[in-house]
Amino acid sequence: MVLQPDRPDWWRDAAIYQVYPRSFADGNGDGTGDLAGIRARLPYLAELGFDAVWFNPWYPSPLKDGGYDVADYRSIDPVFGTLEEAEKLIAEALDLGIRTVVDIVPNHVSSEHPWFRAALAAPVGSPERELFHFAEGRGENGELPPNNWKSEFGGCPWTRIADGQWYLHLFATEQPDLNWAHPLVRQEHEEILRFWFDRGAAGVRIDSAGLLTKEPGLPSFELGVDTHPFVDRDDLHDIYRSWRAIADSYEQPRVLIGEIWVPDTERFARYLRPDELHTAFNFDFLARPWAAAELRASIDGTLAAHAPVGAPATWVLCNHDVTRTVTRYGRADTRFQFSAKAFGTPTDRALGVRRARAAALLSLALPGSLYMYQGEELGLPEVEDLPLSTLQDPMHFRSGGTDPGRDGCRVPIPWSGDAAPYGFAPEGVEPWLPQPEDWAALTVAAQTGDPDSMLELYREALRIRRERIGGEFGWLPADPEVLSFRRADGFGCLVNLGAEPVALPGGAAPLLASGPLAEDGTLPADTAVWFEILDTRL
Ligand code: GLC
Repeated sequence: MVLQPDRPDWWRDAAIYQVYPRSFADGNGDGTGDLAGIRARLPYLAELGFDAVWFNPWYPSPLKDGGYDVADYRSIDPVFGTLEEAEKLIAEALDLGIRTVVDIVPNHVSSEHPWFRAALAAPVGSPERELFHFAEGRGENGELPPNNWKSEFGGCPWTRIADGQWYLHLFATEQPDLNWAHPLVRQEHEEILRFWFDRGAAGVRIDSAGLLTKEPGLPSFELGVDTHPFVDRDDLHDIYRSWRAIADSYEQPRVLIGEIWVPDTERFARYLRPDELHTAFNFDFLARPWAAAELRASIDGTLAAHAPVGAPATWVLCNHDVTRTVTRYGRADTRFQFSAKAFGTPTDRALGVRRARAAALLSLALPGSLYMYQGEELGLPEVEDLPLSTLQDPMHFRSGGTDPGRDGCRVPIPWSGDAAPYGFAPEGVEPWLPQPEDWAALTVAAQTGDPDSMLELYREALRIRRERIGGEFGWLPADPEVLSFRRADGFGCLVNLGAEPVALPGGAAPLLASGPLAEDGTLPADTAVWFEILDTRL
């Protein structure tokens, strides 16, 4: 399969659209999105100008964690379709110029995966159990968990089984962690990579990529000790080097994209050395509140960390794990402008939309690749009032109900019409998560052709980005509340995060703005503008 012979480095500045298959489009009318729905909507993504699509997991799964509990890495959940359909989807997308990125989940499997079922059926000390982390408990009768680790979803990451042993799951109980010290585990995942690369996947997104390896003996976590027993361990790099060799062995090299939550930007960049991953999500940028100093620091830190390893930065405002952009930026309390999920935090929707529009122009103008989560182009808000009975996310349940969980950003996409299911599914079908009653104005159909809509802003911005923006990044002089920068090709971007209007630099000819400029030509608060630099002294 010819992926893109003319641009082997496509990933360096790609615009990548994230599809959450359950919520994108329902082709067979069962209320859950599927491959048929996605295939029918590929022209929408092609027309918007995306270079690639990353699909959240589509494998058979008991859905205890939205599909990140994988029971079989080599097939498609029947609710979504078949492997044959996935192959067709990959080929059809490619015909439209869109590459496919598949999500792989190496840290854990579903408790329904044959390996784990076999491990449960096998005795203590058996080779089947060696593929996971089974251990004896502490305390007189082994009644205490083997160590003091905390689950990423809250609570204890150990579950005790009938014969008294405990098994490790850094996420939900139904997601047992694999033992990456075992050669079979490595071999299996190398084969899974090849399986999808052979089917035309242009790359993989690696789930929880910083957590795979654990300190031998699984010692308790101790404050002040330099190496963490399961986060960002040095032996991970060896795994990614072997994966890179596989990706590079294809005539058209495949791409490795890491989901790595490591706050230290230098440690983060180590994963992006030339013989490891190609790119990784920039969560530092996503985690910053809407404040000029914060975003400037993130941009500087990001570019400085990536430069020595020669990797492109990525820019991410949202994904299926965090609060939708228009909602978080509309929160008065800046602590909640980060991804944090929060019940009942006061939000100014109009302000959030204004800022999200400005943030779109900011992130699309920065050097590197861009990830956009489905629905961001429609300015969808987080759905914060889902009926409790409809919530599915284990994060909600494991928090004892104090955390609303991530369902609010996973609500099915509104395509058309005045009422649910808004063209997501055939009329009369109830989507797997209920859509709000006030989404009629947010549908793709309603926004198409409306020059003031979020969709048309993204469409135009993606077009200009593709045709016009490139080259080195450099800051232009600006007030502290303002971000102003240029790219080497004479393109400029100005974002006003302050309360007062600001003037455009002299010799700037506006190309696109996130909101109307004032009559005197100044840029209002919470607005961004792209411009052509006509004055060569800038
Ligand atoms: C990643 C995924 C998230 C999932 C977790 C466990 O963070 O993005 O959705 O719950 O890994 O697989």
